[in-house]
Amino acid sequence: MIKDRLGRELRDLRISVTDRCNFRCSFCMPEGEEYQFFRRDEMLTFEEIQRFVRALIPLGVKKVRLTGGEPLLRRDIQRLISMLSSLPLEDLSLTTNGFLLKEKARLLKSSGLKRITVSLHSLRDKVFSELVGREVKVSWIIEGIEEALRVGLEPVKVNVCVVKGVNEDEIVDIARFFKDMGVVVRFIEFMDVGNLNHWSLERVFSVREMFQILSEHFDLEPLEKSYRGEVAERYKHRDCGVEIGFISSVTQPFCGECNRLRLTAEGKLLTCLFAQDGYDVKSLLRSGAEEEKIREFVTRIWSEREDRYSERRLELLKRGIIPRKPEMFKVGG
Ligand code: GTP
Ligand code: 5AD
Ligand code: SF4
Ligand code: SF4
Repeated sequence: MIKDRLGRELRDLRISVTDRCNFRCSFCMPEGEEYQFFRRDEMLTFEEIQRFVRALIPLGVKKVRLTGGEPLLRRDIQRLISMLSSLPLEDLSLTTNGFLLKEKARLLKSSGLKRITVSLHSLRDKVFSELVGREVKVSWIIEGIEEALRVGLEPVKVNVCVVKGVNEDEIVDIARFFKDMGVVVRFIEFMDVGNLNHWSLERVFSVREMFQILSEHFDLEPLEKSYRGEVAERYKHRDCGVEIGFISSVTQPFCGECNRLRLTAEGKLLTCLFAQDGYDVKSLLRSGAEEEKIREFVTRIWSEREDRYSERRLELLKRGIIPRKPEMFKVGG
């Protein structure tokens, strides 16, 4: 176990396997911008990723989440999943936009993926298509979720990023829809990730506001955290037990227990979703470093870590300070 300067233990490793995406979500990769993606030879190989994860397990890493961009676009992702599933981890999950899920769910499951999280921000085709920057039928993503349930990638969770003036009027419908389907839905406050998404505090629909509306329609009972450092506040519908969650990264930040380390597809290590600089893991891995060397490298970085961006955000805003931040499609959320 290693601790950072604020006493937080490393536990959760999130690995972006590609920065490419077949969507252009307005709150992540707005249209009208030019994007530069990593070349294949710039990205870590599956063997390098596995070597890195294996080295970090003795340091306390128990959970791995694969992200993107869109991780299902990385060729042969199932091979990486099966390489990671052979390691002694408690949890192996993946976050996807769901577009390729119907076709890939079974293969993901049989390769050793435990569960899946799907991002879906609206049930209305028009709003959804506008949000994700291409024509997509919501029913197509729902079919992917159904397939994930069918093959046992459970619990399936759905992430809904709520943006004021865009989809906040849908939260009751979305909550009802997934309650009936037995799927965990989590409503997320719109965050100022990256530098391109035209974020402003006025566009944040707070978890308090969401909860107020939802509790007029549903009988919700609070649940304990299921693990230390969990970002979602969890509730269950009292009548059926289906879980529903809220992630209040802007209005009630949770940096105090943040145990997450992020690795980008090109092998940069970030100690925060908002970290300005990354540490070069790729060179280390390509220099043939032994596991012990990798552990020393990560231990040094983690023990110097003191990030708590979300707790400082409002104060920085007040002072007019807007730091440069990595883009969500490079870091993976
Ligand atoms: P579980 O492993 O199922 O508990 O998932 P998770 O809560 O780790 O969730 P997920 O990766 O789906 O994250 C959901 C959303 O929460 C992300 O898309 C981000 O918007 C936000 N989030 C996750 N981790 C962090 C974090 O470390 N800091 C901040 N500020 N936001 C985060
Ligand atoms: N604020 C909050 N959540 C976001 N996501 C992407 N951009 C933002 C943002 N600006 C969500 C995605 C996905 C996860 C990786 O993060 O929808 O669920
Ligand atoms: Fe793609 Fe996810 Fe970014 Fe949307 S939020 S553009 S699905 S990486
Ligand atoms: Fe962790 Fe940074 Fe998110 Fe705070 S803002 S919870 S330190 S990743």
